[in-house]
Amino acid sequence: MKRLQTIADADVREKRVLVRVDFNVPLEEGKVADGSRIRAALPTIHYLLGQSAKVLLMSHLGRPNGQKNPKYSLRSVAQELSAMLSRPVLFLDDCLGVDVARTIDELDEGSVVLLENLRFYAGEEANDPKFAAQLACYGDVYVNDAFGTAHRAHASTVGVPALLPVKVAGFLMQKELEFLGNRTGDPKRPFAVVLGGAKVSDKIGVIDALLDRCDRMLIGGAMAYTFQLARGESVGNSPAEPGRLEDALCAIRKAEEKGVQLLLPVDTRCTDRLDFAKRSVGELRTVAGPIPAGWQGVDIGPKTIGAFGRAIESAQTVLWNGPMGIAEIPSCAEGTFAVAKFIADSKALSIVGGGDSIEALNRSGRAGDITFISTGGGASLEFLEGKELPGVAVLNRMSA
Ligand code: 3PG
Repeated sequence: MKRLQTIADADVREKRVLVRVDFNVPLEEGKVADGSRIRAALPTIHYLLGQSAKVLLMSHLGRPNGQKNPKYSLRSVAQELSAMLSRPVLFLDDCLGVDVARTIDELDEGSVVLLENLRFYAGEEANDPKFAAQLACYGDVYVNDAFGTAHRAHASTVGVPALLPVKVAGFLMQKELEFLGNRTGDPKRPFAVVLGGAKVSDKIGVIDALLDRCDRMLIGGAMAYTFQLARGESVGNSPAEPGRLEDALCAIRKAEEKGVQLLLPVDTRCTDRLDFAKRSVGELRTVAGPIPAGWQGVDIGPKTIGAFGRAIESAQTVLWNGPMGIAEIPSCAEGTFAVAKFIADSKALSIVGGGDSIEALNRSGRAGDITFISTGGGASLEFLEGKELPGVAVLNRMSA
């Protein structure tokens, strides 16, 4: 059995270490609005500094489509990182060019450098071999700590490591794979999975894969309306996906065959008017069972919250991804906050992913009570689905 090599297995002492990080963080007025992804990379950076390595960090930010665009500059990320590390971080305002190469050549051991956004060049997303070769020149060792981007076969995640003999996982990558892979693959039971969010089409692969591993699956959010419709219940104006009824029915059948308890909402908070842009709703009402015409679901109801709470409380492992309602509107966020609290209060090993779920935990001040919060969006879903991530497949393995 071969296991992934990590930086702890590689000789990085005084080496030039090229680290792919995922510093694709939200910016507000040019400042980092949420530094979680930067903080998550600190253990790897600290370790490399402890080895007197030259730490060369590279990342993307947003989707600038191969064009230089100051809106997507990583400059403020370098400032944030410098504050977190309490040491200077040298920001290079390009990721290619003779000046960049010369600066890297002249670096002292123990320096930290952040290159400008890789996606300012089309070669990054195209995995252009020339672009990859230019980046690969900077490093002796390659580290991938960008779990959130490991599902992309880009130059910095696939092309560069293919050119360097030593390519290993960083500590964040290792932790993500451990929690989303091993801990949900061989979980302490009962294992409860809580899924929400807008669309069955986004999550059907995850639903299918997790039905093989879990004991209970709790489904909320707009996704639940498609399940309700598939069972022949009316959902009024709720945003169901009529084209996905067969997927929902397959999941219901699979849960029955596997003996997985599938919990769908038994009541729904509904409104007669929703203006998402203005974050406003009309009258709110709790409806048990079918949703009447002219009304639409915006959150799970109190009975459902109670049932979800009991299912979470008695679990030994809980995985949560996706909101239970329109979490951006306070009057429609009760179910999402309740789930956040149940999971934070539980003694179970807890793993949480997805922007809205993490936001609810942060806003309720309970993020510290979660065993592991994933930094991956699309990457976590693909990995949970059982897909091989290209950015992981390219890394070195060794005998366990
Ligand atoms: C993410 O935020 O999910 C990752 O950074 C990947 O970004 P992308 O979807 O723009 O490739």
